[in-house]
Formats: sequence, structure tokens, C-alpha cells
Amino acid sequence: MPSDRKYPAVGGGLSSFGGVDLASIASECGTPAYVYDLDGMTRTARELRAAFDGVPHVIAYAVKANAAGGVVRALAKEGCGADVVSEAELLVATGCGIEPASIVFSGVAKQDGEIDRAIALGIRAIQMESVEEITRVEARARAAGRKARVSFRVNPSVDLAGVTHANIATGHDAAKFGIRREDLPQAVRLAEASRHLELVGMATHVGSQFTSVDPYLDGAMVLCDAVRGLRDEGGLASLAFLDTGGGFGVDYTRAARSPAASEPPPSPADFVRAVRAEMRARRLDDLVHVIEPGRSLVAPHGALLARVVQPKVTAAARWLMIDAGMNDLMRPALYQAHHAIVPVGGHASRESWVPWRVVGPVCESSDDFGEHLLPSEPAAIVAILDAGAYGYTMANRYNGRQLPPEVFLSGGRVVARTARTAMDRWVEERVAAG
Ligand code: LLP
Repeated sequence: MPSDRKYPAVGGGLSSFGGVDLASIASECGTPAYVYDLDGMTRTARELRAAFDGVPHVIAYAVKANAAGGVVRALAKEGCGADVVSEAELLVATGCGIEPASIVFSGVAKQDGEIDRAIALGIRAIQMESVEEITRVEARARAAGRKARVSFRVNPSVDLAGVTHANIATGHDAAKFGIRREDLPQAVRLAEASRHLELVGMATHVGSQFTSVDPYLDGAMVLCDAVRGLRDEGGLASLAFLDTGGGFGVDYTRAARSPAASEPPPSPADFVRAVRAEMRARRLDDLVHVIEPGRSLVAPHGALLARVVQPKVTAAARWLMIDAGMNDLMRPALYQAHHAIVPVGGHASRESWVPWRVVGPVCESSDDFGEHLLPSEPAAIVAILDAGAYGYTMANRYNGRQLPPEVFLSGGRVVARTARTAMDRWVEERVAAG
């Protein structure tokens, strides 16, 4: 069940997003529809870059958060590189103008074809997630007569119980990700003995949606200590970068926060500054600093517009049925995430609003966006906020539903939009299957 976190404090509703009238987007593009404020994403990337204060770095945007061309191109224009986890994401990144030299490729089960493509393109590094993978990549590089640049993703063994949702914690002992610290010396020996591998990076990624710097810093310190130790023993001669991963959290409770409420969570720049201090303390600042943020660059700058289909008021609950479902935005069903939902357009102040249980049309009880304070006379359109990350990329066609269009905003206008997938095509495909 979604969490019972309290109501958004957006008094009077939300009329515009990225300077564009939301009701007119809904009537032109239909609902559900994703809207993205590209200028907001650009601003956030710029702020993050400023935190490096001139230090050589790569902001390797985690394409899995939002792979739409408009988004990736906007971030590429800001100088971002990419963190990809499939050949398809790799091709989106290069297709949107990101230089291979700024791309890292993570993932625990890369296929041979994916490795071959990464080697052929000459990306910054293929991230090794196991000792076994080193042998596989070396064989592919030898077969291609090339030298593959690799980095090691170190599992920092950080206990994340209670820190973030178990499904998005990756840097703990029981996770499938990364090379264990005790296996590092063997892994380094293996890579450094090969004529076909060049060990250029050391990386970690602790998990996602951290709202405090501490767990991120814990992972970064394990990485820094490991690198310092290996260097002190004379290893890692070709090391060029340190990659401290993504995971900077966004404030999904932002809309529920009263102005007088406690401190907002740390900004992406705060995470970077904290890690830079640790790198300096261990004399590792000759290395390029790579980070892999996804969510923090795009989530707050996206919303999912939905139409209210009908209310259903019973003695048990006040349901508000909307036309967006868990197939469009999986986060509430998958992680019990609570995204603020606000009425679109002008409405009476929230003092007169009442709690509604907002649910979608999918035939699953988990198709539930949680309880939200909304006008007692329901608005025609609502906006589900902070949906710019892990929204469309995780959307699916369960129940024969169509994938929503994506609408791209910049300079106060719609600059591009995609089409909703066609229902007829799905019907044809399914009827023809088998
Ligand atoms: N680098 C690696 C190796 C990752 O596995 C991830 C996310 C990132 C970077 C980007 O993390 P971010 O900065 O976005 O937190 N679908 C989930 C999130 C899954 C994250 C998976 N890995 C959600 O909607 O919360």
C-alpha cells in the first residue's frame, strides 16, 4: 500500500508548468500525458556542475531515469555524459550527441553484443560488476583486436536497512551489484596482467533516493580508502577517474512541506562537495571525478497529467478514479512511493479540500496513488508531481493500455511532443501472436 504521508500544500491548484498552461496541454495532447520542463533540467545540471568548482569531472546522467531524446539532448548540451545499462541506452546517449568518451556502461549481466558495441565505440569505461566479467570483457577485446577501457564497480558493503527502499539499495552485502572489496586485489591483478584491458576507473553506487549525504559518503569513503590502499601498494597505474555513483534523493514531500517546516534535504551539490572533501583528504584529487545522477536531474521537472474519470464515494472511502495507472507510473505500486497530486487550474484554497484516495484504472489493488487532499468537487485534471524520473522509462502496456505521450517544454512553450501509442496496433499484435 502507498505510504500514508500527509497532504500536499499546493493551495489553489497548479495552473502552469515550465511557463505553459497545463489545462491546454491536457486538451491538446489528451491524458494521461507526461510533461517535462527542459529548462528546469538544464538549470539543475548547471547548478550541479558549479559544485565541482572547476575540478575535472563528468556528470554521467543515468539514462535509465528518463531516456527521452529531448531530455538527453538538453543534458548533453549542458556537458553531461551518460551512465547506461544497455546497448539501447548507449545508442540513445550517442544518438543524442553524448561523446563516447563521457559514457560509462554499468550492469551485472551485459551480453557479448553489448560489450562488443561498447568496445567498438570506445566509451570511457565498461564497468566491471564481477571478477568473472573481467575475463569475459578481456576475451571480447582480444577477439576484436582492441584494448577495452574498464572500471571496477566496488560493492562498498554499506548497510542500507531503513535508509532507502530495499528495491533500490544496491551497495550492501546481499546485493548482486559490484565487486566485493576483498576480491579487489585479485580483480586488479587480472586486469593489469591483460594486454587487452586498461583499468581506468574505480566506481561505486550505493543506492538511490538518499535524502541525507551520509550513506552516499559512506560508500564514497570505502571507495576512496580502497583506491588509496591499492595505489600505496603500487597498483592502479593507469587509473584516470573515480566514480562515486548516483543516488541523490529528491524531495517527494516538497509539496506537503509548510514554508516553516524543517530543512529541505541536501541538494545534489551538497553530495558532491562532501565527497570532494574526502577525495582531497586521501590525495585523490588528481583523478577525474565522475558521478552518475539520474533522478535528481529530472524528477522534479516532470509531471504526469491525468483526467479525473469519476468519483466513487462509499461508507468505506472516497475514491477518485483517474485515467493514469500503475502502468504509466509504477513507483507507488513498486516502492510505495508517494507523489504529490494537485488539481490543475485555479481552485478554492485547500482549507475546503477533503481527502481522496486516488486510484487508477488497472485491475490491481496496488494501482493506488495514495491519499491526497483535493477539492471536494473534483477538478477535471490533476497533475502527479515529481514524475520526470523513472516514470515513462518504467511504463508498460499492462491491461492493454497505451503508453502516454511526452510533452517537452522550453522557453515557456511546447517545443516537441510524442504520440500516444496506438491501441489498435496492440490489439492486432496480440490477436496475431501465436
Ligand atoms: N548508477 C547506477 C549504477 C545505478 O544503478 C543507478 C540507479 C544510478 C546510477 C542512478 O541513480 P539515481 O541518481 O537516479 O538515484 N526505479 C527506481 C530507481 C532505480 C535506480 C536504479 N539504479 C525508482 O523509481 O525509485
